Amino acid sequence: MRFVFLGPPGVGKGTQAARFSERHKLPHIATGDLLRVAIKEETSVGLKAKSFIENGRLVPDEVIIALMEDRIQAPDAKSGYILDGFPRTIAQAKALSEILTRNGVALDCVVYFSLDDETLMERIVGRRTCPDCHAIYHVSYHPPEKEGLCHCGGILFQRKDDVPETVAERLAVYKNETSPLITYYKNENILTEINADQSVDRIAENLQKMV
Ligand code: AP5
Repeated sequence: MRFVFLGPPGVGKGTQAARFSERHKLPHIATGDLLRVAIKEETSVGLKAKSFIENGRLVPDEVIIALMEDRIQAPDAKSGYILDGFPRTIAQAKALSEILTRNGVALDCVVYFSLDDETLMERIVGRRTCPDCHAIYHVSYHPPEKEGLCHCGGILFQRKDDVPETVAERLAVYKNETSPLITYYKNENILTEINADQSVDRIAENLQKMV
Protein backbone atom coordinates (compact mmCIF):
# COMPACT_ATOMS: atom_id res chain seq x y z
CA MET A 1 0.00 0.00 0.00
CA ARG A 2 1.34 3.40 -0.98
CA PHE A 3 -0.23 6.43 0.66
CA VAL A 4 0.36 10.17 0.58
CA PHE A 5 -0.82 12.17 3.60
CA LEU A 6 -1.50 15.69 2.34
CA GLY A 7 -2.59 18.79 4.23
CA PRO A 8 -1.52 22.04 5.86
CA PRO A 9 1.16 22.30 8.56
CA GLY A 10 -0.12 21.18 11.96
CA VAL A 11 -3.20 19.38 10.66
CA GLY A 12 -2.09 16.08 12.26
CA LYS A 13 -0.48 14.22 9.33
CA GLY A 14 2.47 13.09 11.43
CA THR A 15 0.29 12.02 14.37
CA GLN A 16 -1.94 9.90 12.12
CA ALA A 17 0.92 8.56 10.00
CA ALA A 18 2.72 7.27 13.11
CA ARG A 19 -0.38 5.31 14.19
CA PHE A 20 -1.21 4.06 10.72
CA SER A 21 2.38 2.95 10.21
CA GLU A 22 2.37 0.93 13.40
CA ARG A 23 -0.98 -0.66 12.62
CA HIS A 24 -0.18 -1.61 9.03
CA LYS A 25 3.57 -2.21 9.44
CA LEU A 26 4.37 0.35 6.77
CA PRO A 27 7.34 2.72 6.94
CA HIS A 28 6.35 6.28 7.83
CA ILE A 29 8.46 8.50 5.61
CA ALA A 30 8.29 12.10 6.82
CA THR A 31 10.31 14.62 4.84
CA GLY A 32 10.38 17.05 7.76
CA ASP A 33 11.97 14.40 10.02
CA LEU A 34 14.49 13.38 7.34
CA LEU A 35 15.47 17.02 6.86
CA ARG A 36 15.76 17.75 10.59
CA VAL A 37 18.07 14.72 11.02
CA ALA A 38 20.13 15.92 8.04
CA ILE A 39 20.44 19.36 9.64
CA LYS A 40 21.50 17.86 12.97
CA GLU A 41 24.11 15.68 11.26
CA GLU A 42 25.25 18.60 9.07
CA THR A 43 25.04 16.57 5.86
CA SER A 44 25.11 18.40 2.51
CA VAL A 45 21.28 18.11 2.30
CA GLY A 46 21.02 19.49 5.84
CA LEU A 47 23.23 22.45 5.04
CA LYS A 48 21.15 23.25 1.94
CA ALA A 49 17.82 22.87 3.81
CA LYS A 50 18.51 24.68 7.10
CA SER A 51 17.68 28.30 6.26
CA PHE A 52 14.60 27.33 4.21
CA ILE A 53 13.10 25.36 7.09
CA GLU A 54 13.89 27.96 9.71
CA ASN A 55 12.18 30.64 7.61
CA GLY A 56 9.12 28.52 6.84
CA ARG A 57 9.93 28.23 3.12
CA LEU A 58 10.01 25.08 1.01
CA VAL A 59 13.36 23.40 0.44
CA PRO A 60 14.15 23.46 -3.34
CA ASP A 61 12.44 20.71 -5.35
CA GLU A 62 15.67 19.17 -6.67
CA VAL A 63 17.01 18.62 -3.13
CA ILE A 64 13.79 16.98 -1.91
CA ILE A 65 13.23 14.88 -5.03
CA ALA A 66 16.75 13.39 -4.85
CA LEU A 67 16.31 12.67 -1.14
CA MET A 68 12.94 10.98 -1.63
CA GLU A 69 13.94 9.05 -4.72
CA ASP A 70 16.58 7.26 -2.63
CA ARG A 71 14.32 6.81 0.37
CA ILE A 72 11.31 5.28 -1.38
CA GLN A 73 13.48 2.79 -3.22
CA ALA A 74 15.12 1.54 -0.02
CA PRO A 75 14.53 -2.17 0.83
CA ASP A 76 12.08 -1.47 3.69
CA ALA A 77 9.83 0.51 1.31
CA LYS A 78 9.52 -2.22 -1.34
CA SER A 79 5.93 -3.16 -0.49
CA GLY A 80 4.66 0.24 0.52
CA TYR A 81 4.88 3.34 2.70
CA ILE A 82 3.14 6.44 3.98
CA LEU A 83 4.56 9.66 2.59
CA ASP A 84 4.07 12.49 5.08
CA GLY A 85 5.05 15.91 3.72
CA PHE A 86 5.87 14.82 0.16
CA PRO A 87 4.95 15.84 -2.49
CA ARG A 88 4.40 19.52 -1.70
CA THR A 89 4.57 21.06 -5.16
CA ILE A 90 3.25 20.05 -8.56
CA ALA A 91 6.87 19.47 -9.70
CA GLN A 92 7.37 17.05 -6.78
CA ALA A 93 4.11 15.24 -7.60
CA LYS A 94 5.19 14.80 -11.23
CA ALA A 95 8.62 13.54 -10.14
CA LEU A 96 6.99 11.06 -7.74
CA SER A 97 4.73 9.80 -10.51
CA GLU A 98 7.76 9.24 -12.78
CA ILE A 99 9.64 7.32 -10.06
CA LEU A 100 6.59 5.12 -9.39
CA THR A 101 6.03 4.43 -13.09
CA ARG A 102 9.70 3.49 -13.52
CA ASN A 103 9.26 1.00 -10.67
CA GLY A 104 5.99 -0.37 -12.10
CA VAL A 105 3.87 0.69 -9.10
CA ALA A 106 1.29 3.39 -8.28
CA LEU A 107 -0.16 5.30 -5.34
CA ASP A 108 -3.20 3.68 -3.72
CA CYS A 109 -4.59 6.78 -2.07
CA VAL A 110 -3.88 10.43 -1.27
CA VAL A 111 -5.51 11.40 2.03
CA TYR A 112 -6.19 15.12 2.32
CA PHE A 113 -6.63 16.32 5.93
CA SER A 114 -8.56 19.61 6.16
CA LEU A 115 -8.73 22.11 9.05
CA ASP A 116 -9.19 25.88 9.59
CA ASP A 117 -6.17 28.19 10.08
CA GLU A 118 -7.01 29.19 13.67
CA THR A 119 -7.01 25.59 14.89
CA LEU A 120 -3.86 24.84 12.88
CA MET A 121 -2.03 27.70 14.62
CA GLU A 122 -3.19 26.48 18.04
CA ARG A 123 -2.03 22.92 17.30
CA ILE A 124 1.38 23.99 16.02
CA VAL A 125 2.37 26.47 18.71
CA GLY A 126 1.45 23.93 21.43
CA ARG A 127 3.38 21.09 19.79
CA ARG A 128 6.37 19.54 21.52
CA THR A 129 8.59 17.05 19.71
CA CYS A 130 11.04 14.37 20.78
CA PRO A 131 14.49 14.76 19.17
CA ASP A 132 15.25 11.05 19.61
CA CYS A 133 12.17 9.03 18.52
CA HIS A 134 10.29 11.93 16.79
CA ALA A 135 7.16 11.35 18.93
CA ILE A 136 4.71 14.27 18.81
CA TYR A 137 2.96 15.79 21.84
CA HIS A 138 0.79 18.83 22.52
CA VAL A 139 0.87 20.83 25.72
CA SER A 140 -2.96 20.68 26.04
CA TYR A 141 -4.30 18.00 23.67
CA HIS A 142 -1.66 15.33 24.12
CA PRO A 143 0.62 16.13 27.06
CA PRO A 144 3.43 13.73 28.03
CA GLU A 145 3.06 11.72 31.25
CA LYS A 146 6.03 13.57 32.75
CA GLU A 147 6.21 17.22 31.81
CA GLY A 148 8.91 17.89 29.20
CA LEU A 149 9.84 14.22 28.84
CA CYS A 150 9.06 11.78 26.03
CA HIS A 151 8.03 8.17 26.81
CA CYS A 152 11.45 7.16 25.42
CA GLY A 153 13.25 9.49 27.86
CA GLY A 154 14.06 12.19 25.26
CA ILE A 155 13.81 15.83 26.28
CA LEU A 156 10.91 17.44 24.40
CA PHE A 157 11.55 20.66 22.52
CA GLN A 158 9.62 23.22 20.50
CA ARG A 159 10.63 23.28 16.82
CA LYS A 160 12.20 26.57 15.69
CA ASP A 161 9.64 26.83 12.90
CA ASP A 162 6.71 26.42 15.34
CA VAL A 163 6.65 30.09 16.44
CA PRO A 164 3.63 32.13 15.24
CA GLU A 165 5.49 34.34 12.67
CA THR A 166 7.05 31.33 10.92
CA VAL A 167 3.79 29.38 11.09
CA ALA A 168 2.03 32.25 9.27
CA GLU A 169 4.66 32.01 6.50
CA ARG A 170 4.27 28.20 6.33
CA LEU A 171 0.49 28.55 5.98
CA ALA A 172 0.93 31.07 3.14
CA VAL A 173 3.45 28.79 1.40
CA TYR A 174 1.03 25.88 1.80
CA LYS A 175 -1.81 27.85 0.15
CA ASN A 176 0.33 28.99 -2.78
CA GLU A 177 2.47 25.97 -3.49
CA THR A 178 0.92 22.84 -1.95
CA SER A 179 -2.86 23.29 -2.05
CA PRO A 180 -2.93 22.99 -5.90
CA LEU A 181 -2.14 19.30 -5.27
CA ILE A 182 -5.71 18.82 -4.02
CA THR A 183 -7.06 19.42 -7.53
CA TYR A 184 -4.13 17.56 -9.10
CA TYR A 185 -4.91 14.35 -7.17
CA LYS A 186 -8.71 14.85 -7.47
CA ASN A 187 -8.21 14.73 -11.23
CA GLU A 188 -6.29 11.48 -10.81
CA ASN A 189 -9.27 10.06 -8.84
CA ILE A 190 -7.18 9.03 -5.85
CA LEU A 191 -7.95 11.83 -3.37
CA THR A 192 -9.97 11.23 -0.20
CA GLU A 193 -10.72 14.09 2.21
CA ILE A 194 -10.83 13.68 5.99
CA ASN A 195 -12.14 16.36 8.32
CA ALA A 196 -9.26 16.82 10.79
CA ASP A 197 -11.39 18.82 13.24
CA GLN A 198 -12.06 15.69 15.30
CA SER A 199 -10.25 13.74 17.98
CA VAL A 200 -7.10 11.81 17.09
CA ASP A 201 -8.97 8.52 17.71
CA ARG A 202 -11.95 9.45 15.53
CA ILE A 203 -9.69 10.49 12.63
CA ALA A 204 -7.76 7.22 12.98
CA GLU A 205 -11.08 5.30 12.82
CA ASN A 206 -12.06 7.14 9.64
CA LEU A 207 -8.69 6.33 8.11
CA GLN A 208 -9.15 2.70 9.04
CA LYS A 209 -12.45 2.53 7.15
CA MET A 210 -10.64 3.56 3.98
CA VAL A 211 -8.30 0.56 3.76
P1 AP5 B 1 7.17 19.18 8.23
O1 AP5 B 1 7.92 18.71 9.39
O2 AP5 B 1 6.65 18.19 7.24
O3 AP5 B 1 6.02 20.13 8.71
P2 AP5 B 1 4.51 20.35 8.20
O4 AP5 B 1 4.01 19.72 6.98
O5 AP5 B 1 4.46 21.80 8.18
O6 AP5 B 1 3.70 19.55 9.15
P3 AP5 B 1 3.80 19.57 10.64
O7 AP5 B 1 4.87 18.63 11.09
O8 AP5 B 1 3.89 20.98 11.11
O9 AP5 B 1 2.33 19.07 11.07
P4 AP5 B 1 1.57 17.70 10.99
O10 AP5 B 1 0.46 17.81 10.02
O11 AP5 B 1 2.50 16.53 10.87
O12 AP5 B 1 0.91 17.74 12.44
P5 AP5 B 1 1.27 16.93 13.77
O13 AP5 B 1 0.81 15.52 13.66
O14 AP5 B 1 2.67 17.19 14.20
O15 AP5 B 1 8.06 20.18 7.36
C1 AP5 B 1 8.85 21.19 7.98
C2 AP5 B 1 9.60 21.97 6.92
O16 AP5 B 1 10.45 21.09 6.15
C3 AP5 B 1 8.74 22.67 5.86
O17 AP5 B 1 8.25 23.91 6.32
C4 AP5 B 1 9.76 22.80 4.71
O18 AP5 B 1 10.66 23.85 4.95
C5 AP5 B 1 10.53 21.50 4.78
N1 AP5 B 1 9.93 20.46 3.94
C6 AP5 B 1 9.36 19.30 4.36
N2 AP5 B 1 8.90 18.59 3.32
C7 AP5 B 1 9.20 19.31 2.20
C8 AP5 B 1 8.95 19.12 0.81
N3 AP5 B 1 8.33 18.03 0.35
N4 AP5 B 1 9.37 20.07 -0.04
C9 AP5 B 1 10.03 21.17 0.40
N5 AP5 B 1 10.29 21.41 1.70
C10 AP5 B 1 9.87 20.51 2.59
O19 AP5 B 1 0.24 17.65 14.80
C11 AP5 B 1 0.41 19.02 15.15
C12 AP5 B 1 0.04 19.19 16.65
O20 AP5 B 1 -1.36 18.96 16.80
C13 AP5 B 1 0.74 18.20 17.60
O21 AP5 B 1 1.06 18.88 18.79
C14 AP5 B 1 -0.32 17.10 17.85
O22 AP5 B 1 -0.16 16.52 19.14
C15 AP5 B 1 -1.62 17.90 17.74
N6 AP5 B 1 -2.71 17.12 17.15
C16 AP5 B 1 -2.64 16.25 16.10
N7 AP5 B 1 -3.86 15.77 15.80
C17 AP5 B 1 -4.72 16.35 16.69
C18 AP5 B 1 -6.15 16.28 16.89
N8 AP5 B 1 -6.94 15.50 16.11
N9 AP5 B 1 -6.69 17.02 17.88
C19 AP5 B 1 -5.91 17.84 18.67
N10 AP5 B 1 -4.57 17.95 18.53
C20 AP5 B 1 -3.97 17.23 17.54
